[in-house]
Amino acid sequence: MAYIGEPATDDNIGLNKKVSILTLRKLKEENEKFVTVALYDAPMAAMAKRSGIEVVLVGDSLGMTVLGFDSTIPVTMEHMIYHVEAVSRGNDKSLIMGDLPFMSYATPELAIQNATRIMQAGAHVIKLEGGEWLCDTISRLVDRGIPVCAHIGLTPQSVNKFGGFRVQGRDEKSARKLIHDAKLLERAGADLLLLECVPASLAKTITEEIQIPTIGIGAGTDTDAQVLVINDILGLTPKPPKFSKNFLVETQDIPAALAKYVQDVKHGEFPAKEHIFD
Ligand code: KIV
Repeated sequence: MAYIGEPATDDNIGLNKKVSILTLRKLKEENEKFVTVALYDAPMAAMAKRSGIEVVLVGDSLGMTVLGFDSTIPVTMEHMIYHVEAVSRGNDKSLIMGDLPFMSYATPELAIQNATRIMQAGAHVIKLEGGEWLCDTISRLVDRGIPVCAHIGLTPQSVNKFGGFRVQGRDEKSARKLIHDAKLLERAGADLLLLECVPASLAKTITEEIQIPTIGIGAGTDTDAQVLVINDILGLTPKPPKFSKNFLVETQDIPAALAKYVQDVKHGEFPAKEHIFD
């Protein structure tokens, strides 16, 4: 791929091979960080491919970033399918991960039905939020050929239970519970683990104690990958979270902002100290 300042040629623009779960495992084995962006439409998905972004997440954050809700709870299967279809039309190389929205996986049967719809819309992996209680659901999905990313830490669909968007795992008991959940989710067959808003030292421990790749957001530098929401990368969020960074402000246009994000993740320069929770 092309880095900043390097002339773009057909050989160095973007991804030239389809990314799969195996690609991500190999990158982890080789100690190369991979890059994820949450985005929601075809033109941005195409730019992500040209920027060499390995994983595109069609997150239910679209409820807040695109649809104007104040949480992800109102997001429906129809919203998710519409955006997964758009993203998959714009990008035939990145691994596309689609979120299952609030209550669409409340039982294993519902999870199978709804994951099927997200996969048929164009996703290659589905993501769902939760710990130990999800193990049965995850093993049923993976047994049926659906790769799964489990999401723990700050799980925004549980915002009302947490009493706000707060860092998780700060005390010893909750940190131990997250480590325990991570191990059980791996054992249940999860292919990836997303850690949101947890202390950097906890994300490091979890990443060291499991074999599957970890993707962090507000989880320090030691996860195998980073994810940011496109609105934060492009400075569209009125009150950006501490863990995010506006990459557009120091670059000339959107492709350059994405290239800088990719470069900073790959070189371990993002997240920096100011983006990390202790
Ligand atoms: O929905 C989403 O975009 C997410 C990321 C913030 C990780 O879950």
